Amino acid sequence: MNIDIKNTDVGRYAELVKSLSAKKARNAYVVTFGCQQNEADSEKIRGMAREMGYTIVDTPNEADLIVVNTCAIRKHAELKALSVIGRFKELKRNNPELVVGVVGCMAAEQHMADFIKQKFRYVSFTLEPNLLYMLPKLLWKSLSERERSFIFDADEGNIVEGIEPVRASGHKAWVSIMYGCNNFCSYCIVPYVRGRERSRDSRSVIEECKKLIDSGYREITLLGQNVNSYKSDMDFASLLESIAKISGDFVLRFMTSHPKDVSDRLIEVMGKYTGKVAPHFHLPLQSGSDGILKAMNRTYNTEKFLSTVDKLRSTVPGIALTSDIIIGFPGESEGDFEATLNMLSNVKFDMVYSFLYSPREGTRAAVMENQISDEIKGERMNRLLELQCAISLEKNLPYVDTTQRVLVDSVAKNKNENTYTARTLSNKLVQIESDENYIGQFKYVKINRTSAFSLFGEYVREEN
Ligand code: 5AD
Ligand code: SF4
Repeated sequence: MNIDIKNTDVGRYAELVKSLSAKKARNAYVVTFGCQQNEADSEKIRGMAREMGYTIVDTPNEADLIVVNTCAIRKHAELKALSVIGRFKELKRNNPELVVGVVGCMAAEQHMADFIKQKFRYVSFTLEPNLLYMLPKLLWKSLSERERSFIFDADEGNIVEGIEPVRASGHKAWVSIMYGCNNFCSYCIVPYVRGRERSRDSRSVIEECKKLIDSGYREITLLGQNVNSYKSDMDFASLLESIAKISGDFVLRFMTSHPKDVSDRLIEVMGKYTGKVAPHFHLPLQSGSDGILKAMNRTYNTEKFLSTVDKLRSTVPGIALTSDIIIGFPGESEGDFEATLNMLSNVKFDMVYSFLYSPREGTRAAVMENQISDEIKGERMNRLLELQCAISLEKNLPYVDTTQRVLVDSVAKNKNENTYTARTLSNKLVQIESDENYIGQFKYVKINRTSAFSLFGEYVREEN
């Protein structure tokens, strides 16, 4: 269902909450766990809070509204969120007016929502990702009637247009183009918590991108659980091309893609618009064993994956490839794991995000036999990291002594104030020491040295 926020009662509730905020200044704090989709959702939550008269703050201490945007992809993510929610009990005791809400993927799991309702009596509402637009209504109910709400979506999800986000950055923006997932990989909770695939209208997406570029944004990342199965009046390759054609100096990225949906047209478009579409592809392999891929319901095999890699590399010069790997999927034998290591050695990804398999209640893999012990998973993880570290370094070395165009992003965390981070067009992290603050600008950088994780460089005047 397509919902235009203007045609709902959301505005009325937002006005009601705002009338309270007018009497007393109120602060809202949003804490985010998980993926970029959640980051993008949190920007919309902040947008709604601002609409309701709240000032957005970046610590919970002075907040009158706290929204915890959760992730359910692995148990670890859930435990982290629960521990943070637990810490707000004290704040609620000191400030009975404080409203704490839990939203996101964890709130879409019935057993988790029940647990939060019972265990954390001071939580006023849970709201799953498809229903975030209902925030003003639940907030009003909590503020005016002290009513607790725990809401689930009866249908398969919707698309909500018209919520103005408060964007965290002034130079890079997330643009969601589709929601949900139909793939039901056997380990994954996402299709259960985010519902079926649905794509935004291409005109709304292109319009949003135009506005961002006109207002000075330099990087746009198109987001979706499965971006390349985008389908409206056009497919993903055409959407990417339409956005790449917008005039302006910007770089276009997208994530996450499913290997089964990488069409030849998409690769062609990437090759044709190299100045705009970033030469980077995040292509989650998950496992290098065909048997495990089948059990994961990934619907491709290693041969198909390798042929996609070849096409990408022969069409898009200098393309960087990154991937996700799950270690210790049920039944993963030593031979299966070695097949994964072999694939990493063959493909030579620039970077790999590796995860220990975490059983998710309600998914098929959670009830499979032959669950792998933590000890074996940990040992395999170490072997994988050691191999990938050497490969990442090998992939970074050719950058040394080259000049790269980068988008300067932020001050490096845990470093001195003169260290900035930037990204090459291929999305490699670069650290630069400089007295000049060029955040949000494209610059040229000469790369002087590298580690497996980061390039190190200095500004130079122009490409040479
Ligand atoms: N356990 C471990 N990793 C998982 N992922 C998804 N579900 C699980 C799970 N149950 C990983 C996949 C996916 C990434 C976002 O998270 O590798 O690509
Ligand atoms: Fe999960 Fe697979 Fe869908 Fe990705 S494609 S969100 S891993 S079910």
